[in-house]
Amino acid sequence: MTAPRLKVAVLISGRGSNLKALIEACADPGYPAQIMLVISNAADAGGLVFAKDAGIPTAIVEHKHFPSRDAFDVAMQTHLDQAGAELICLAGFMRILSDGFVRHWEGRMINIHPSLLPAFKGTCVHERAIAAGVRISGCTVHYVVPELDSGPAIAQAAVPVNPDDTPDTLAARVLKEEHRLYPEALKLVAEGKVRLQDGRAQFAPF
Ligand code: GRF
Repeated sequence: MTAPRLKVAVLISGRGSNLKALIEACADPGYPAQIMLVISNAADAGGLVFAKDAGIPTAIVEHKHFPSRDAFDVAMQTHLDQAGAELICLAGFMRILSDGFVRHWEGRMINIHPSLLPAFKGTCVHERAIAAGVRISGCTVHYVVPELDSGPAIAQAAVPVNPDDTPDTLAARVLKEEHRLYPEALKLVAEGKVRLQDGRAQFAPF
């Protein structure tokens, strides 16, 4: 008997190329996770088309329609519960979640960030990496904790920063690694080979 696949919800705000990479990974019946739902907080997010093409249910939860962050998070929680989501993958989700929501999902929510955390948290990552003169950058999949981009790393990939890089060329090199790394990291989580414990990502054997 094969183990049940982990039920995942992916949250996006835009282009959705990482969502696409996760959808492609989940298309393999042997992959240990399946995407039950894609939520976007922007009705015009380009990535929604990848979900629709794959026949994955989508929900639009636009924060501007809610009086508070908490009310927005309650609406998202309702969709997640209805879909039976067991894990959330943030994939370019450009909205800060309430502490209560993050705590509820602690250990069950992961994100991808386009730098080698803890370097370059936040936005304009590639501009700042180039301005700082670093020779190596990359991407990180990490558990989400209330403090932005500060949760423990599950997996990282490094790329060189070339002398003639622009933010766009560096972003493209990092993005290619993101598309490889996120499905790999999700696989580790879905197989139970990593978990959040005592504020760290602990790897099997536990
Ligand atoms: C990626 O670079 C990801 O690391 C960051 O936002 C970007 C989203 O890109 N969190 P996409 O929507 O997955 O194409």
